[in-house]
Amino acid sequence: MKRCDTLVDIGRRQFLRGAGVATVGAATAIVTLPAPEARAATPLARVSYPSNRLANIADLKVDEAFDVAYPDDDAPGVLIKLGRAVPGGVGPDGDIVGFTTLCPHKGYLLNFNAADRTLNCPGHYSRFDCEAGGQQVWGHATQNLPQYAMRVDEKGDIYAEGVDELLHGRLSNVL
Ligand code: FES
Repeated sequence: MKRCDTLVDIGRRQFLRGAGVATVGAATAIVTLPAPEARAATPLARVSYPSNRLANIADLKVDEAFDVAYPDDDAPGVLIKLGRAVPGGVGPDGDIVGFTTLCPHKGYLLNFNAADRTLNCPGHYSRFDCEAGGQQVWGHATQNLPQYAMRVDEKGDIYAEGVDELLHGRLSNVL
């Protein structure tokens, strides 16, 4: 039986033409990808609020929660002097932290437990570690506890300037 070279040749040409189109398509796709430096930067979770004076260093005692409200009167919180430097801690010893006391789960008011430096929810028992930036260690909440971004001035006044997570009950961290 005689072999048909014409059909084989046509088949090869169509295959090569198809490969060429695929190569051009792939090259186009590569060219249209944005350069890494052109991509949008991942936004920070922290939200800036107006700077509010919350207390003075002299007002705080180690392991005692000092009640405050930030960024407004509907957002209760606490300042706690922990006695050792911790993440997010401010002041000369880096041991002063501030947190909202509205549980991120359903907004119950949290209580400070000095024995293990946690904020605890009476609603469904979520617990948050004050020495670890408000990290949730137990319970129903689905986010860590919002921690204040703070600074201390030369007079020892403590200011909050932002919060690093969404406050309970708010659609956004914008006043
Ligand atoms: Fe705090 Fe549910 S309200 S765990």
